[in-house]
Amino acid sequence: MCESLVSPDFSRSKAAVQTPLKLGIMASGSGSNFAAIATAISKNILPAQVQIVIYNNPKAKVAERAQQQGFPTKLINHRDYQNRESFDEEIVAALKAADVDWVIMVGWMRRATQVLIDAFLGRMVNIHPSLLPSFPGIHAIEQALDYGVKISGCTVHIVTLEVDSGPILMQAAVPVLPEDTAETLHARIQVQEHRIIVDAIAKLASNHVV
Ligand code: GAR
Repeated sequence: MCESLVSPDFSRSKAAVQTPLKLGIMASGSGSNFAAIATAISKNILPAQVQIVIYNNPKAKVAERAQQQGFPTKLINHRDYQNRESFDEEIVAALKAADVDWVIMVGWMRRATQVLIDAFLGRMVNIHPSLLPSFPGIHAIEQALDYGVKISGCTVHIVTLEVDSGPILMQAAVPVLPEDTAETLHARIQVQEHRIIVDAIAKLASNHVV
């Protein structure tokens, strides 16, 4: 199913040319996944460019990181909007104004409404710190520890209306150790996140032709 969402249509073009993928980043955490993406781009590992970094928490470290590296950023604070739809309308306007091909959610903790889904249908990915479909939602790591799973990991998936439920593009597993806290398990998962988010975007980029 995910292949049908990302596979290119070669039928109209004989000479398909790969172009850099124009990314819109949505994030409001520390920005380590964003940093992994930016590093891969700067090392020419990833044929992509960051058009805009949208964040909703005024204190998000990702904004500082992005601004220090000269990327355009935009604060869209959900508290300034009456409902989720009007918040997402503002996000869609910013992504369109920035001429974004694909939206990459890395540490975005707000549920996407139909407004956002429709505007970038099949062109939004999210990274989540569990092996979906286990432990969707905002406390995935704590829930994995509470449940006592012995293996956890991370998932990159296409964003759909239902939270953390879209077609899976990539996953990586990590062991859960008896002495793990949420912090130590998250740190182990993040090592894998930084790898698979870059690999997943590279896969999307390799399918992106004009
Ligand atoms: C990541 O671990 C990501 O999986 C998680 O937020 C963290 C952001 O880290 N996302 C979710 O939990 C979404 N449900 P970062 O700011 O260091 O990239």
